Amino acid sequence: ARKSAVIAVDGPAGAGKSTVARLLADRLGYLYLDTGAMYRALAYKALSEGIDLRDEAELAELLNQTTIELYPKGHGQVTVMMDGQDVTGHLRTPEVNASVAVVAGFPLVRREMVLRQRELARHGGVVMDGRDIGTFVLPDADIKFFLTASLEARAERRYHELRQAGFDVSLDRIREEIQHRDLLDSSRPYAPLSQAADAILLDTTKMEVEEVVERMLAMCDQRLN
Ligand code: CDP
Ligand code: CDP
Repeated sequence: ARKSAVIAVDGPAGAGKSTVARLLADRLGYLYLDTGAMYRALAYKALSEGIDLRDEAELAELLNQTTIELYPKGHGQVTVMMDGQDVTGHLRTPEVNASVAVVAGFPLVRREMVLRQRELARHGGVVMDGRDIGTFVLPDADIKFFLTASLEARAERRYHELRQAGFDVSLDRIREEIQHRDLLDSSRPYAPLSQAADAILLDTTKMEVEEVVERMLAMCDQRLN
């Protein structure tokens, strides 16, 4: 594939975006950019500082005072640095899961994030995943994927992930949490989660990770060469 292409990956929670985007980037020798981690970092900071999550102006102000850097560690793994500190381990907790979509709903927050994301993708050679990448952040991306899977499959994936990480969670709670977050993400007025008209839809409910990556690679080969 071309060395400078821009690849967008969107979809609901637990569809496998970060897992496959990371592997795809690795195979192509591209940079993987996790935009969810940027919203998570802001939510984490707001929670840590006791900021009112309903206060759009305060959150936007907080973001302006916050640096967020994504450092590739090889094999598509990313270290998230916030204000010079490694916060990677703090971003996927139930607390952040429960507040990130609220923080991400505000136009003032999104506008600043989108500027930063476009800057990161400026030189191409990137796979960027999120909710509004194909529709809003990078509308001219060379290839756009929209990954989905049934709610049940997505909830089970998340459940296993969190259990393995040592969190005492129930499948019912996870299912509710991602359903609620999907609803917030899909129904917000500004840059909601939606499939771009020119995105390739992949339903991964019955697919293994490797199979998804192979299909995406094949489509990249087809379209970019
Ligand atoms: O980023 P997103 O929320 O879309 O999903 P993720 O964080 O990549 O989590 C997806 C989880 O489901 C990971 O634990 C994957 O190993 C697993 N999985 C997948 O991503 N794709 C499949 N086709 C099957 C399982
Ligand atoms: O891994 P998972 O799909 O659960 O979440 P994520 O990709 O880390 O994104 C976390 C949250 O950030 C989403 O539920 C959205 O509320 C928000 N987000 C967004 O609004 N726009 C993006 N481009 C990426 C994430």
